[in-house]
Amino acid sequence: MVQNRTVIVTGAAQGIGYAIAESFINNGDFVAIFDLNEEAAKSGAERLGNAKGYKVNVADEESVKIAIGQVIAERGTVDVLVNNAGVQHISPIEDFPVEKWDLLIDVMLKGTFLTTKYVIPTMKKQNKGRIINISSAHGRMPDAYKSAYCAAKYGQVGFTQVTALETAKFGITCNAIMPGPVRTELIEKQLPKLAEQDGTTVEEALNHHILGKQWMKRLLEPSEIGATAVFLASDGAAAITGEGIGVTGGS
Ligand SMILES: NC(=O)c1ccc[n+]([C@@H]2O[C@H](COP(=O)([O-])OP(=O)(O)OC[C@H]3O[C@@H](n4cnc5c(N)ncnc54)[C@H](O)[C@@H]3O)[C@@H](O)[C@H]2O)c1
Repeated sequence: MVQNRTVIVTGAAQGIGYAIAESFINNGDFVAIFDLNEEAAKSGAERLGNAKGYKVNVADEESVKIAIGQVIAERGTVDVLVNNAGVQHISPIEDFPVEKWDLLIDVMLKGTFLTTKYVIPTMKKQNKGRIINISSAHGRMPDAYKSAYCAAKYGQVGFTQVTALETAKFGITCNAIMPGPVRTELIEKQLPKLAEQDGTTVEEALNHHILGKQWMKRLLEPSEIGATAVFLASDGAAAITGEGIGVTGGS
């Protein structure tokens, strides 16, 4: 069935966002890729087919406002918003640079607020909409040296619940997905370095540093996050709102 809904996915030029975009396109939808990396957003959209790349800084109000206005002008509406753009910085609190703190909170928390702020009027008008925030397992479980990341990811969960509450009467749902470790460039690049540091194999480094106590003992595939997002945006998920859905492999 061709649905051809209009779906915005932020940070979809690569990684989990790209896989989410691919899942929606395989479902018959159109995806607007919002990413800071314009070239990758545009080439990604070309590869994916039923998609268009937009240069957007989700932490900048003007940038978000203009891009969402453009999507609405071109497509008439926004049916689904997936807030996925994210950045990481790892450091003990006492050494954590303030500008990195601001960056992480701005991209993941303020960015989620800004896109939501500018899609809600359209979703309310059509009495239908789905908002999905990509938080993290670190949105309910702390990890040392990730203070800003955890603050933003826990914050996204609170924001998800308020959004769900405020929009429930308008046919809009808002949920968070909380992924465990996903096979992305970010993780795969760390492994050889960690293995060398510890004098272990890459597999041992993966088990020690990344998988920890995870029950399934495997990295998740980005497409598994995509499948969950498509489900949350489906008609069958109409009564699920204000939830944080773990996709973790067990933890
Ligand atoms: N990789 C994991 O294991 C994992 C686990 C749990 C949650 N997550 C979350 O999933 C999301 C995606 O992670 P990923 O691993 O695919 O990351 P990634 O680094 O591969 O991709 C992030 C994308 O966001 C874009 N981006 C960064 N700042 C932006 C901004 N200001 N405006 C617009 N776009 C911006 C980047 O250009 C990039 O394309 C993040 O929110 C991350 O916290 C990842």
